[in-house]
Amino acid sequence: MKFFRTEKYHIDFQKTKMMGPNAMLITEELLCNLELRPVMTALDIGCGLSLSSLLVAKEFGMRVFACDLWVDPAENFAFYKKINMEKQIIPMRVDFTKDIPFSSGYFDLIVSVDSFHYFSDKINFAEKILPLLKKNGTFAAAFPVLISDEIPHVLKDWFGDEVTMMHTLDWWKDYFESQGAVIDECGYCECTEKAWSDWFLCTENEYAMADKAFADRGALSEISIAKFIIKSNM
Ligand SMILES: C[S@@+](CC[C@H](N)C(=O)[O-])C[C@H]1O[C@@H](n2cnc3c(N)ncnc32)[C@H](O)[C@@H]1O
Repeated sequence: MKFFRTEKYHIDFQKTKMMGPNAMLITEELLCNLELRPVMTALDIGCGLSLSSLLVAKEFGMRVFACDLWVDPAENFAFYKKINMEKQIIPMRVDFTKDIPFSSGYFDLIVSVDSFHYFSDKINFAEKILPLLKKNGTFAAAFPVLISDEIPHVLKDWFGDEVTMMHTLDWWKDYFESQGAVIDECGYCECTEKAWSDWFLCTENEYAMADKAFADRGALSEISIAKFIIKSNM
């Protein structure tokens, strides 16, 4: 696919906001077949430094609640003000394993890039996330997955204790279906390779360079980035 939306933003800018494989590319791929309109409202779960929120707000014109746990909302707010988007993107600190400050039936879209797998084992997806969607709303998530059930040493070295949050695409399919979710689309992201190689362009980012050292040991042939598009079943 062509990433004509992401290409509008200079790679040097994208690099300043990456926290892993390029979230702007991944978001564009996740949303490319959805019918999204400016009157709609989105929730970005685990927005990090906001590449995903920016794409949803700027390229689809939607209002976005940009929620994250680790990133200070004041840092994101300063960025939105700088680019005159502060009325359209609302920064919030939200821990999705705790009480969340949203009404059920509020969002047309929930997007989550490289984040859902961090806390999915601590929540009930069917009770906590799906009800936030309006009728006909969409949950669109992408995150790294294992290629096979066996976890190779290089991934154990890379992710340490967090390797337990890594599963295969089929495992995640079963997970979502067991929660009563209706999967509209799932598969590996076409942009996986480019998303990682963009991250490795961040040569001044110590996390990117640490990840690259594992990629150089062959780790990327053991994982991919999966995407799931799930429709509200309300
Ligand atoms: C690897 S970063 C990805 C950030 C961004 N989505 C991106 O792709 O650049 C993972 C993000 O998940 C968020 N996260 C982890 N656990 C969370 C939780 N319980 N509630 C909300 N966000 C969470 C973190 O705050 C972090 O920013």
